[in-house]
Amino acid sequence: MLLSAEDIAERVRELGAQITHDFAGQPLHAIGVLKGCFMFMTDLVREIDLDCSIDFLGVSSYGSRTESSGVVRTTHDLSAPIAGKHVLLIEDIVDTGLTMKYLIDNLQTRRPASITVCTLLHKPSNQKIEVPVHYVGFTIPNKFVIGYGLDYAERFRNLPYIGVVTNAAALIADEEE
Ligand code: IMP
Ligand code: MG
Repeated sequence: MLLSAEDIAERVRELGAQITHDFAGQPLHAIGVLKGCFMFMTDLVREIDLDCSIDFLGVSSYGSRTESSGVVRTTHDLSAPIAGKHVLLIEDIVDTGLTMKYLIDNLQTRRPASITVCTLLHKPSNQKIEVPVHYVGFTIPNKFVIGYGLDYAERFRNLPYIGVVTNAAALIADEEE
């Protein structure tokens, strides 16, 4: 275990309070990046005391199960335009940054008033490209993590805590048997 449910809840409360303070008086349009954001987003928006609307984007990146290829595919588009809105983009993790770069470039073309990025986890040691991350829950080492929305081959998203996969090779071997 890397982060307990209590560690996460405490940090989410702090992030919510910070965002509420920073955006005071401004309506916020929260956009969650599926599927990884689903648990973080539901907890975070309950800690944000602002006029807030919600939408989702779904993306999936090709590549091996524990390494991002940077080739991103949209699996679910926004349900409404974002022109003129203050967007809070909510991600589970920024690893290489390639997914975030794709998301920001994509959203920028739709002319929002602003885009602010909030990620639960950040692995700066693996970052390949410069992307803005305004709010970070936890900076973590370059390890593959699961739980609290994050998956390994679509599993473990339901864990209430965040754990490190210590032996991904064994997990892969298990599955291929
Ligand atoms: P990036 O494009 O390398 O920044 O990776 C972004 C996406 O890869 C995230 O939204 C996750 O879906 C996935 N990802 C990266 N690192 C991890 C991890 O440690 N555990 C689970 N998913 C991860
Ligand atoms: Mg993801």
